[in-house]
Amino acid sequence: MKILIIGGNGTIGKTVASHFKEKHQLLIAGRTSGDVTVDITESSSIKEMFEKTGELDAVICIAGEAKWADFNELTEEDYYIGLRSKLMGQINLVRIGKDHLKPNGSITLSTGILADDPVVQTASAAMVNGGIHSFVQAAALEMENGIRLNVVSSGVVEDAYEKYRDSFPGHNPVPMLKVINGYVRSVTGKGNGEVIRIYE
Ligand SMILES: NC(=O)c1ccc[n+]([C@@H]2O[C@H](COP(=O)([O-])OP(=O)(O)OC[C@H]3O[C@@H](n4cnc5c(N)ncnc54)[C@H](OP(=O)(O)O)[C@@H]3O)[C@@H](O)[C@H]2O)c1
Repeated sequence: MKILIIGGNGTIGKTVASHFKEKHQLLIAGRTSGDVTVDITESSSIKEMFEKTGELDAVICIAGEAKWADFNELTEEDYYIGLRSKLMGQINLVRIGKDHLKPNGSITLSTGILADDPVVQTASAAMVNGGIHSFVQAAALEMENGIRLNVVSSGVVEDAYEKYRDSFPGHNPVPMLKVINGYVRSVTGKGNGEVIRIYE
């Protein structure tokens, strides 16, 4: 398969990429590095990226940001960071990317445990994750040409545990192999409209 991983040089992305590259042709995209550059907050940038990649079998997005801050500190503009990046960035990848996929291709998005089990300072980040879950379940009903759409929602991953452990009191790190398998299930399985939760 020819697979594009947006965020494929990130903490989760590089681990997922190293798995898929064993058997598949991989393209990595990010704002600052990769085979193609893209900023998913801009539709024009997403369009340019897909013009460069050509037809794909699978698109995986493991990128997207949202502002973390105390609820009383989050401004309206702070919410737009997550709405533009993690939410609309990934929605636009689906809107635009579906036309650059071969029949029976797939798109896999990424969210996280905050959608179901938020911690403090995540009113924006949790909202965005939950919105993507609903989007995926609804939009998957209308994919054509056998194209499938799923989302992988992980807990704090092993490779980022030191960075996030204080923000997620009592959460257990999710082994990278289990995270990889969430993406494998989405890309090589048959599921459509699934929220693939990998929380422990
Ligand atoms: N770490 C965790 O434990 C965890 C758990 C569950 C869910 N998640 C979610 O999974 C995603 C990846 O997490 P991570 O920890 O791997 O993050 P990371 O290490 O910061 O990597 C993110 C990657 O995405 C790229 N990126 C960021 N914003 C982008 C944009 N606007 N356009 C294109 N590429 C962009 C970055 O590259 P450039 O800087 O070059 O653009 C980077 O390669 C995030 O959405 C995160 O919320 C993370």
